[in-house]
Parts: sequence; C-alpha cells; structure tokens
Amino acid sequence: MKLEQAEQRAAQLRREIEEHNYRYHVLDKPIISDEQFDQLMRELQELERQFPSLQTPDSPTQRVGGAPLAAFATLVHKQPMYSLDNAFSEAELRDFDSRIRKASGGAIDYLCELKMDGLAVSLQYENGLFVRGATRGDGVRGEDITQNLRTIKQLPLRLPEAITVELRGEVYMTRRDFEMMNAARRAKGESEFVNPRNAAAGSLRQLDPQVTASRPLKLFLYALGEHNLPLQTQEEALAYLERLHLPVNPNRELCRGINAVWRYCLAWQERRAKLPYEIDGIVVKVNSFELQRTMGATSRSPRWAIAYKFPAEEKTTRVLDIQVNVGRTGAITPVAILEPVFLSGSTVQRASLHNEDILAEKDVLIGDTVVVRKAGEVIPEVVRVVREARTGTERQFVMPVRCPSCGAAVHRLPGEAARRCLNPSCPAQLVERLVHFASREAMDIEGLGPRVAELLYREGLVVDVADLYYLQASRLEPLERMAEKSAANLVAAVEKSKANPLHRLLYGLGIRFVGARASRLLAEHFRTLDKLMAADQEALTAIPEIGPKIAEAVTAFFHAPETAPLLEKLRAAGVNMAEPEAEGAGGILQGKTFVFSGTLANYTRDQAAALVQSLGAKVSSAVSGKTSYLVVGENPGSKLQRARELGVTVLSESDFRELVGEAEQHAAGDR
Ligand code: IVH
Repeated sequence: MKLEQAEQRAAQLRREIEEHNYRYHVLDKPIISDEQFDQLMRELQELERQFPSLQTPDSPTQRVGGAPLAAFATLVHKQPMYSLDNAFSEAELRDFDSRIRKASGGAIDYLCELKMDGLAVSLQYENGLFVRGATRGDGVRGEDITQNLRTIKQLPLRLPEAITVELRGEVYMTRRDFEMMNAARRAKGESEFVNPRNAAAGSLRQLDPQVTASRPLKLFLYALGEHNLPLQTQEEALAYLERLHLPVNPNRELCRGINAVWRYCLAWQERRAKLPYEIDGIVVKVNSFELQRTMGATSRSPRWAIAYKFPAEEKTTRVLDIQVNVGRTGAITPVAILEPVFLSGSTVQRASLHNEDILAEKDVLIGDTVVVRKAGEVIPEVVRVVREARTGTERQFVMPVRCPSCGAAVHRLPGEAARRCLNPSCPAQLVERLVHFASREAMDIEGLGPRVAELLYREGLVVDVADLYYLQASRLEPLERMAEKSAANLVAAVEKSKANPLHRLLYGLGIRFVGARASRLLAEHFRTLDKLMAADQEALTAIPEIGPKIAEAVTAFFHAPETAPLLEKLRAAGVNMAEPEAEGAGGILQGKTFVFSGTLANYTRDQAAALVQSLGAKVSSAVSGKTSYLVVGENPGSKLQRARELGVTVLSESDFRELVGEAEQHAAGDR
C-alpha cells in the first residue's frame, strides 16, 4: 500500500472508530460488536506501524501514550475554576432566588442539573484538538493531567468542529464500576477505595497513564470556560456540547421560577439512589448568560449559581461497644464501635463521641440503637439514641481513670472537656504523632498510615518523628507485611519529605492550636525555624490572625525540654527548616504594580488581582508614579486620565491577557 492510500484509509478508520466509540461510550447504543470494533482498531494500528507518520496525536490508538510522570506540572487556569455556594434548605434556596430577582425582576429561568460527586476538570481544545486538561486545584492553578484524561474513552480527542474552547466537567465512576473494581482489588489483596469519588480521584491522580487507563472513569461536561461561541443560555450551551459528541448529563431541566426548581430538587432527592452514579445535590444556574454576566462572581463563587445540598443520609445501627482512643495530644476520646452500616458512600464502623460531657448529653449506652449520619458528608456522628428500642440490657460506659495505652493516670484539666493522658512518652500518643506528621497537609509521607506507624513503633524502630529520617530499608524489609518494594518506597517517601517547606514541618510537629493555616502564617512571617524559635509573645501576636493562645502554645513548645533535641535530630538528618519565598515571588511580574479600572469581560477584579499576585506583582487601587500598568476594562474612570498624565503604560484587557498569558507560560517553563 502506498502512503497516500494508507493515509486515506487511516483517516477513514479513525472517523469510524471515533463514531463507534461515541456510540458505545457516550450514547450507550453500539451498532457493532466488540470484535468488529477491535478489528478496526487492529487495522489502524497495523497501518500506523507500517507508516509511523500516520500516528497523529488524535488517533484512537494514542489514548494511552507517554511514560509515567515524575510529578504533575502545575497549570494556571485561563479562567479561574469557581466552586459553588451551598444551600442546605428550601429557605436558603429561596434567598438565592430573591437576590437574583432583585437584580433582574420577574420569574427567573434556571437550568437545574445534577451535582455529580466526582472531580472537577478543565479541558482545553484548540482548533478541535484536545490539547490539555487539568484538575481544579485551588481554582487558580491545577495539575496538568492531560495524559490521564486522554485515556477516558468518552472524551473525544478531536471535536467534530475545529473550535478553540475550554470546557469544564466532572470525572466520576459509576457505583457498579466502583464495586467491580474494588472486588478485583480485594481478590488481589490490594487496598480498596472507600467510595466512587475517592476511587475516581485516586485513578485520575496516577502518574502512570497506563494505570488510569485501566480504571473505569467517566465524564460529564457542564460548563464552558473561555469561548467565543454565539451561545445565549446554559441550556443552549449544553445542547451544543451534546452536538459536539461530548457526554452531557441528560437529567437536566429548565425550570421557570424557584417553585419549579424546588420541585426538581425534591424529585431528585427521592430518585438519587436509583441513579447509576452518586450525586450530592442539585446545581441551580441562571439560564441566561447575559444575566449571569450582570450578576458576576465573588472571589470564590458565581452569584448566579448555587448548589442545593441534599440532607445528610441518616441510618440506624447498633452501638456494639464504646472504647476510648488516645489522640496525639493525649486527649482520651470515647468512640462508639458500630455495627457496620453503609452510609453516604462508605461503610461506617466507628463514630467519635467527642468527650464525656457530650457522651452524657447524648446518653449513649453500649447496646443502644442509634441514628448516625456523616457531618459535612465526611465524619460519622451519632445523631441521637432511639430510646424506644432499649430493652434494658444496655450498659453504661465509664470513662477510664488510666490511659488504656500506657496506664498513666488520666487528668481532666480545668476548663477542658477532655481527659488527657499527660505521659509524654505514651505509645498511643507517639503513634498518633507519627501519623499526623506524615499526613497529607503535613510532611505528606506516602505509605505511613496508622498501620505502618504502629508497626514501626512496636518494632522499636521509631520513637519520635525524627527517627523516621534514620530508617533503613534493610531493617524494614523483614517486618510483617513489608515487602522489599514497600520498604524502599517508604524510605524514598521519607527522603522526599526532607525538602518540604517549613510550614509543613511546623504543622507536622503538632504544636497545640497550630493548625495548617497558623503554620503557614508563622512560616511565611519568620521564614526560618531559628527565627521563629527566637520570637517572643510580642513578635508572635504582631502577626495578623495569631492570637495570644497560639503564641503561648508556640513559645511553650519551643521551651519544652524535649523540643531542642528533637529539632536537632531533624536538622542533622537534613530536614529543611526554611520557607521558600511566597509562591509568585520571583514570579515573572515581580516588582510590577498593577492598577485596574473599569469592568473586565473575563475576570472579576478579585480574580485579576489574584492572578497578577500569583505571578509576583502587587496591586494598588490608585495610579501613581509607582504604577507599572493600568489595566482598563469597560467604562474606566478618572484613573485613565491620571495614567496618561503620568505616562503609565495602559493595557486593554486583551493586552493584559497577552501579558499574563505570556507570564504564565514563563512560570510553567520554570517548573
Ligand atoms: S458548575 C461556575 N455544574 O461542584 C460553576 N458544578 O462546588 C462551576 N459539580 O467544583 C461549577 N456537578 O466539581 C457545576 N452540574 C454541575 C456540577 C458541578 C458537580 C461540582 C464541580 C464544582 C463543584 C462546586
């Protein structure tokens, strides 16, 4: 076969394959058998093997390509990815409607959609070709997961129209696929995912696209990011996406007025369990794009949309026992051990009862039937006891007077609800401290969960967090359930954590009252551990948001006799003790000062400001001799005049976008 012929045949095969792919994965209405489909794929693969020049990036043979990554690159979203405000009741939903009617008057058309419980993603198409995809991240920057998104068969690698658009949607997993995947993992002795959302998230954040390709991920698109398409409403936009062969959830409805919206919400609250995937609410969007633009957005979320959250699912179960847990600060917490119950997406077997006062107030007895739910859809809690179900065989639980882990006497300090074990070398506390130190927001040491922490302690390999940095793979390998590979992985993960910025270390040390946010504030203010250690109360409380309680806890920690040797051990191991300059500092716009005037079409003021700040620039409200750029939108005020007088560079919105666009690329290149 000649190249020319092959080219034509390959193009035809590609079209056919994409069409069948669409029918199978999006419409769920295949018209050929799997064998016939495989046959087409094989023919195309064979052609591309013979004529490698035919291997285009949009070829269906190229879905899973590329080597595993070392890490995901960071990507700045062209338009920030908002989250949504929540409404937890009919009244809150009606408040939302009143706010909109105030701005517009009359009954509003809303497009109601199911709120998919998955992961938000952004997809960039250029001239019809899928070029980039990212996670939401913090809304301004996400992770580049292009390779992984390409493996999702519902995602067209090329659109039927050569348009340039950014699309937003949700990656999810059906309940059935999730269960089958977990069953397979169970059979192989691998750890299971707790719910479809976590499974989808875990699958999408794999560095090896081969792994992602093996996971049953699905996609629904629900919004357009940057575009210049002649669309007037959300309804039209979604219909248009459907015409592009993109997967769009069909269960959407145009509702005129809030009463219709509420009926839609109630109907889906009833029906949600019958859906093949999980939803956690309803997204209500003003249908008209014009009205959306009028309403605008806050820095976090649009004013023209809201998420109605379904009430947390409640179930009854039995309290099999009440035990106590010793936390990393020595707090002794009563925990209800429950008959396992499947609740809001995962099996629940324990629920904290917080402290003896709450336990007494809720009056939970061992053997009681209780109503449970997940607070904030995450943490299981006992709502109340079903008193009518008592049989008289229930037993009262008595708080222990000795620590169940080390046997030391337990104290209830004045002003505190918790009883505490005050023994600083209590094993349970040490293990909890290790787990906290290794946790995601702290030093993020993968593979060091409660089980491994317990094991390391029990084997005498680790007593304090600094010991982690002296672990040797050869000592780990012989341990139970520690294969050669996991030992090496753990040592590597520990090693990697040495380079973490100071705020992670601070948080990981578990200083009382010093959470993730305070750690960041302290680290960013003092920059090095030495300077922080030298700070007195006054210096600490001078930092906005740091009050006397935190300041006292910080100085108490650094003055405690066991702290200095611990820090020395960490330092000697080579753990970083400094905070790098703030993100964006050293950025491409470092040293520049921006002033904004007028309305920008593509950014709110807050977003534009956040964007330039993330690139190292400052934002000021008035034009002066120090201003580098005045960015003007529609209807700029007197600032424009002033800028002209002072000879300050004036940027139109498109100049501005070009400038930050360029700057973003530089920043990406640096990584
Ligand atoms: S629209 C500007 N529509 O909910 C509005 N979001 O808290 C952007 N989500 O991060 C979101 N289903 O991950 C929209 N039909 C839907 C959605 C949806 C699920 C998620 C999305 C977003 C979060 C908002």
